[in-house]
Amino acid sequence: MLKSAGVYRAETGRNDLSSPKRILLIIGGGIAAYKCLELIRRLKERGHNVRAVMTQAAHHFVTPLSVGALTNERVLMDLFDLDDEREIGHIRLARDNDLIVVAPATADFIAKMAGGHADDLATAVLLATDKPVLLAPAMNPAMWRHPATCRNVAQLEADGVRIIGPAAGEMAERGEAGLGRLVEVPDLVAAIEGVFEREAPQRGSVLEGRHVLITSGPTHEPIDPIRYLANRSSGKQGFELAAAAADLGARVTLVTGPVSLAEPRGVRIVRVKTAAEMLEAVKAALPADIAVFAAAVADWRVETIQTEKIKKSEKARAPTLKLTENPDILKIVARQGPERPRLVIGFAAETQNVIDYAKSKLKSKNADWIVANDVSPSTGVMGGENNTVHLITQSGVESWPEMSKVKVARKIMERAAEQLHAKRTAAE
Ligand code: C5P
Repeated sequence: MLKSAGVYRAETGRNDLSSPKRILLIIGGGIAAYKCLELIRRLKERGHNVRAVMTQAAHHFVTPLSVGALTNERVLMDLFDLDDEREIGHIRLARDNDLIVVAPATADFIAKMAGGHADDLATAVLLATDKPVLLAPAMNPAMWRHPATCRNVAQLEADGVRIIGPAAGEMAERGEAGLGRLVEVPDLVAAIEGVFEREAPQRGSVLEGRHVLITSGPTHEPIDPIRYLANRSSGKQGFELAAAAADLGARVTLVTGPVSLAEPRGVRIVRVKTAAEMLEAVKAALPADIAVFAAAVADWRVETIQTEKIKKSEKARAPTLKLTENPDILKIVARQGPERPRLVIGFAAETQNVIDYAKSKLKSKNADWIVANDVSPSTGVMGGENNTVHLITQSGVESWPEMSKVKVARKIMERAAEQLHAKRTAAE
């Protein structure tokens, strides 16, 4: 499940945004609609203005009275409610905000949006808007997997709609589990604020003509046809790095292990499972000007992968797995040679002695920079939206304050562009 307990800091009352935003929340008709009440509270706590539109179906799950009480605004429902049209008008409603969030976005609502329907207030607003739209789908896993839903989601993504989730876990229906739950409210809050950060002007051309290669996500190392060794990496930081590099005009190749994240636009994605596959994909993508190794590559793989499922037996002891070391992709690419990217950046995820371990990695792996972070469970970094990093270079250590992974990515790519420019100027 997408979980990031450490991400959202409402308890401390902190709000990193420079200005509060106007959010139009469209509440769809799903069992998860009740989570919107919590979402509204959290957004208001963080200084945002929230106005809500409810679909007809949403009325079965939450009441306009409670939504209105929390937003402190009249809840809007009907396209043909003349009062609404006179007071606000659906076109103004569509544009008088900084972001439209649809939660929960049901399979039916997604289908309507993908088809460009406008037969109620919610869909009419979405068709008329020129603002970013974030969908948080929630439905039964079979509905989420259905080819029709996959087609509709792909269409919406191609139309520029952002999608968060769904998360995996138990469904409201007994015995049903899988991918289909509405993401948890803290993740939704972070995704909403991530959109605002991403919307802040950053597009540039400082990396135009450059090839940036990024590795991301975990690797899955098979044990037998059913089981594998993995880790908790979500791939978010790597995906944000790819998005940031593309925003700065670079040609980007993102080699990612298994993750369920929306693909950043304008980025070539190569999907792999194992460390060995990741190494091959990285080699095939070279040469690159900048290479960033954000993947949490498994250090070890199982020496002999069983071709049949290992059976549990009452008599036999638990099996012992013999592990062997995986190739160190960063180390291989950072070796001196004509194919070495001009800037090689590694990540160091540690749970103790973060800076010391990172400094020794800078040397042992021949990297130019190491971005070090504490991934102890209490930090919420693994799978979360925020990160606190230290940038370790040949000239010293810079500790950055906690910020979103979007901001960390931007800062790293901007610094990388500066460094490349400085290297070129020095060479001239
Ligand atoms: O040695 P450690 O795993 O801590 O090093 C972390 C850095 O090395 C990260 O940048 C990671 O992407 C990279 N790495 C790699 N291949 C491995 C192990 C780590 O590219 N097999």
